[in-house]
Amino acid sequence: MNKTTFSRITGTGSMLPGSPVGNAALIAEHKLDSSDEWIVERTGIRTRHLAAPGVTASDLAVPACRHALEAAGRSAADVDLVIVATSTPDYIFPSTAALLQHKLGIKNGAAAFDLQAVCSGFVYALSVADKLIRSGSHRCALVVGSEIFSRILDWSDRGTCVLFGDGAGAVVLEASDEPGILATALHADGSHNGMLNVPGQIGRGQVTGDPFLRMDGQAVFKFAVKVLADVANEVLDSAGMPAGNLDWLIPHQANVRILSATAKKLQVPAEKCVVTVDRHGNTSAASIPLALDDAVRKGTVKRGDSVLLEGVGGGFTWGAVLLKF
Ligand code: UT7
Repeated sequence: MNKTTFSRITGTGSMLPGSPVGNAALIAEHKLDSSDEWIVERTGIRTRHLAAPGVTASDLAVPACRHALEAAGRSAADVDLVIVATSTPDYIFPSTAALLQHKLGIKNGAAAFDLQAVCSGFVYALSVADKLIRSGSHRCALVVGSEIFSRILDWSDRGTCVLFGDGAGAVVLEASDEPGILATALHADGSHNGMLNVPGQIGRGQVTGDPFLRMDGQAVFKFAVKVLADVANEVLDSAGMPAGNLDWLIPHQANVRILSATAKKLQVPAEKCVVTVDRHGNTSAASIPLALDDAVRKGTVKRGDSVLLEGVGGGFTWGAVLLKF
């Protein structure tokens, strides 16, 4: 086993199902007591993508991974690790990652597992993949966030159903002599489990309790702004990088007001904060890799840029990854 100095993202990809669904169409379809004005003013969300019935998280992840592999100049045979961050897996088991590995035609016995940290899932997964690559045990990872949150929404709850969307984002993370991921930080505090959850359980052939996403929106909002600023400062401090040196801040895309408040607290100019929540809604673990791929393909995030990825979500969990793209 050769220890490597760094892990580095070499390709990004994404998948958004179907056509964008605007606020007015969503309100009309579900007969919601809401308005486009309210949703835009309180969240910044204008459209989201929703998967057709029968489409699963592994289905969305396949094209996202293919795009990422193509961008990295790699093939399925090169991959020795697949991590899927998701809270909406295809099944209780097998893992979505194992299904994805099979669908991608990876036949070399690559390790594959799911990671459950809700909206922080992608930064958790990227951090774990970084550690495995740096240990020398793996060399080429697919790190994926894939979600079909539309399946766990209560379409009569206007306080939550307008916020979320479906999608998948992926990166190829490879062993490298150049940086690379510079610093990571992961945290959780399970005492806040009731603030954002799906309280129902599956057992004995039945769902017991409420199977839909429930949230105390205002409590989540305050918690998110605090921990996103704290964890960003933590990785910047550990890499010895002032916030002023950041080229891009890519927070979990939950709400445009959370993004603005976080950027302001970090004194990062608004134009350096990547925003896709207006077009994608909140896609949980998929939101950060979707935003990264969007920015890379537009030519906004370029090779060598300093980028800070950070997420917060149910659990509660939060974390950040600072990297040179
Ligand atoms: O990945 C993390 C996931 N979660 C989040 O990021 C959520 C963070 N929180 C938020 O984004 C905001 O708290 C919300 C967007 C969820 C809500 O915005 P708010 O400014 O905190 O509104 P509120 O909860 O204080 O509600 C204000 C009013 C209430 O009506 P009353 O009680 O004042 O009559 C709500 O019932 O807005 C009402 N309301 C709506 N009205 C129209 C809630 N949802 C809607 C809606 N359309 N969709």
